[in-house]
Amino acid sequence: MDSGFQHFDQAISGDQTRLSDHARRSANQAIGFLMQQAVENADCISLAAGLVDEESLPVKIVREAVAELLSDAVSGRKLLQYGITPGPEPLRRVFRTNLARLEQRNDELRDLPLSQLVLTTGSQQLLSLVTQALFNPGDICLVAAPTYFVYIDVLQAAGAEIVPVTADADGMRPDSLAAALEQIQSEGKLDRVRLVYVVSDFDNPSGVSVSAERRPELLQIVQKYSLDRRIFLLEDCAYRELRYDGNAIPSIWSLDKTHETVILAQTFSKSFSPGIRVGMGVLPQCLVKAVTDLKGNEDFGSAHLNQHIVARAIRTGEYADHVRSVCESYRRKRDAMVAMVEREFSGLPGVSWFKPQGGMYVWMRLPDHIATGFTGPLFQRATQVDKVMYVPGELSYPADWVDRPHCEMRLSFGVQNIVGIEAGIRRLASAVRWVLDAPPPSVLQAESGR
Ligand SMILES: Cc1ncc(COP(=O)(O)O)c(C=O)c1O
Repeated sequence: MDSGFQHFDQAISGDQTRLSDHARRSANQAIGFLMQQAVENADCISLAAGLVDEESLPVKIVREAVAELLSDAVSGRKLLQYGITPGPEPLRRVFRTNLARLEQRNDELRDLPLSQLVLTTGSQQLLSLVTQALFNPGDICLVAAPTYFVYIDVLQAAGAEIVPVTADADGMRPDSLAAALEQIQSEGKLDRVRLVYVVSDFDNPSGVSVSAERRPELLQIVQKYSLDRRIFLLEDCAYRELRYDGNAIPSIWSLDKTHETVILAQTFSKSFSPGIRVGMGVLPQCLVKAVTDLKGNEDFGSAHLNQHIVARAIRTGEYADHVRSVCESYRRKRDAMVAMVEREFSGLPGVSWFKPQGGMYVWMRLPDHIATGFTGPLFQRATQVDKVMYVPGELSYPADWVDRPHCEMRLSFGVQNIVGIEAGIRRLASAVRWVLDAPPPSVLQAESGR
């Protein structure tokens, strides 16, 4: 980690607080910096926030669901009571049916034991529980470079060693994954590898999906290197249902016939409502007890009423209708952002971007010498003068990775409407033009020395 820990130590020096190693490793999270920036720059158009589109949140569906679920006092009281740690079995059956629909299976996945499904508080809780279940400090996780920055923080809190694996427009590269594992094996550290983390659809931040060809290859590589100790593949499907072009691809989990290698993390945050905080994990049998025991320590069951609200929306078909209309709205916003980026940035040298087929993000790369970080001139100019905010790309790489690029940005079309997206991109282009036109630092030094 970088100097963040010194800052944390200073904050607690002078009192008798003795925090755990886990708490110390959790200090100075990227998400914390980002929220702070959002508060300090409240007058900016935010292309940073990963929030979902306000207009499309399902107020009517939820209002009607609550009215119906609580219309009978006796059954209503049951929903306002505690549930059970993995979530009630009838609800898990509904979520399994929904998973079968996503996997285009007409057998409702009846072979998949309900005991392997765990309902969680968003999928973030599942990512955290799985990490707690598998990692001791020094254990290794391989991730795509770049990857979901909040998961980097979870891994850092666990004391994990994070190994970045090259990704391209088809997602994590199998040859790079194999080479990284080979290298780890040659160093005698293979038994410390616990997990390969893959966001298979419309990754956050890059918008890239793992191609259908690569999915079985990644799985085979992980299985090949599972020797004395099993390596798991954590497949994070947070954006899976937000597809705007092309056909749906079966998950990596569905290719793992015995379901012993892949852990599937799914959420209703992006496709329905993040405020409801309903997520789901499908676990290899051998992890079920550990993950539910750890969840028991945290909450012995996620919000019971909310799980019923989502399950009802799935049962009535309102959920599937809602996802269709959300995708329509996001498609228009994605198109507006990409069109505006093409208009404003095509003339700028060394600037490139990726048009995603789904999800919420456009990933942009600037010339290598333009640092996009919080303290760099671009972020300062963008937030102070042009009044626009983005997520610096460097947050999406392990902080101690020497090859970490510093010239990228994540631009979200999630929360802004089309007018906001267009204005935001125009402002961002103005800031980038200003930085590109600025004299190089060497000239400035020479001038100030005169
Ligand atoms: C890739 C990815 N995974 C997981 C999550 C966690 O979301 P939630 O806990 O709302 O399901 C997010 C949230 O932004 C995400 O981007």
